[in-house]
Amino acid sequence: MTILNRQCLLAQRPIGAPTRDTFRFVETPLDEPAPGQILVRVRYLSIDPAMRGWMNDARSYIPPVGLGEVMRALGVGQVVASQHPDHAVGDWVNGALGVQDYFLGEPRGFYKVDPGQAPLPLYLSALGMTGMTAYFGLLAVGAPQAGETVVVSGAAGAVGSVAGQIARIKGCRVVGIAGGADKCRLLTEDFGFDAAIDYKGEDLHAALRRECPKGVDLYFDNVGGDILDAVLTRLNFKARVVLCGAISQYNNKEAVKGPSNYLSLLVNRARMEGMVVTDYVSRYPEAMRDMAGWLQSGQLKSREDIVEGLETFPETLMKLFTGGNLGKLVLKVS
Ligand SMILES: NC(=O)c1ccc[n+]([C@@H]2O[C@H](COP(=O)([O-])OP(=O)(O)OC[C@H]3O[C@@H](n4cnc5c(N)ncnc54)[C@H](OP(=O)(O)O)[C@@H]3O)[C@@H](O)[C@H]2O)c1
Repeated sequence: MTILNRQCLLAQRPIGAPTRDTFRFVETPLDEPAPGQILVRVRYLSIDPAMRGWMNDARSYIPPVGLGEVMRALGVGQVVASQHPDHAVGDWVNGALGVQDYFLGEPRGFYKVDPGQAPLPLYLSALGMTGMTAYFGLLAVGAPQAGETVVVSGAAGAVGSVAGQIARIKGCRVVGIAGGADKCRLLTEDFGFDAAIDYKGEDLHAALRRECPKGVDLYFDNVGGDILDAVLTRLNFKARVVLCGAISQYNNKEAVKGPSNYLSLLVNRARMEGMVVTDYVSRYPEAMRDMAGWLQSGQLKSREDIVEGLETFPETLMKLFTGGNLGKLVLKVS
């Protein structure tokens, strides 16, 4: 019997926000794996803001997705056929599976996960790429010291919620910035942030003065734009700004808006440093050990926002840009 593989292809390069027309769904008959290849049934896909950047025909840390190619996505799935010595039928793997029912190809960069140790979606959140981003962005680049004030934007999202909690574990005062009262309540009541600022509902400058009376020592920036500009005005001497992302700018039709308050870096001898999580792949085991320990002790909470159905991918992706997700956005495929 021929098995059909539903695939979501990149049909056009979006200008501004992607829409359903950005993608095209096709059904392709599945082949058997060739030597060196594996066939994986996709179970969960990681829905990431970076996907927007991968659609642009521009130089970045990774090549863009080609027109007509399967949309790139990280995910977890189960090996259902294998011609690869390191992967047996039944193994669960984490890798770039793509927005499709089945991945067929060489498992480059894939690694095994164990659903007996943790629920599969956790391997895409705290124990996956976003958790690693929070861990290394905060600890390796931000280098927080106990007693410092740490501000995190996009704080109720996948990376932000974990970065803020790690800063708490390290003894910092943590202030999260998120959109809406519900997200802000979650930050203080569930994730243990010391304070939360609703950037959609209150004056950001006044709120930063209120919640950061001693200034800001470390800013973990997920959103860029006006929020970055506002936090720059509160920096302390030798403050660190971790440039993790700038989601407020990803759908811009005009040039990215840079910070106009950047001279605050000069005055305060502060620094702003970009980070890309893949630079830390060789250190993932160390981070996984810490994260698993904190999850087990209850010091760290991971929240996944799971949407079902491969066909919902275009609308599910857009939730990231409208703030429709709470915690790590995951698409359940099968
Ligand atoms: N450097 C790296 O290696 C790396 C790796 C992974 C992710 N990242 C970056 O980390 C950031 C967070 O990613 P994530 O996966 O954790 O996503 P996420 O925070 O779970 O979801 C995105 C959130 O961004 C907020 N947002 C959207 N538009 C905004 C705007 N115009 N202004 C302010 N906030 C806005 C929304 O929350 P609100 O409801 O609060 O607005 C939304 O829920 C992204 O910038 C991403 O590109 C970087």
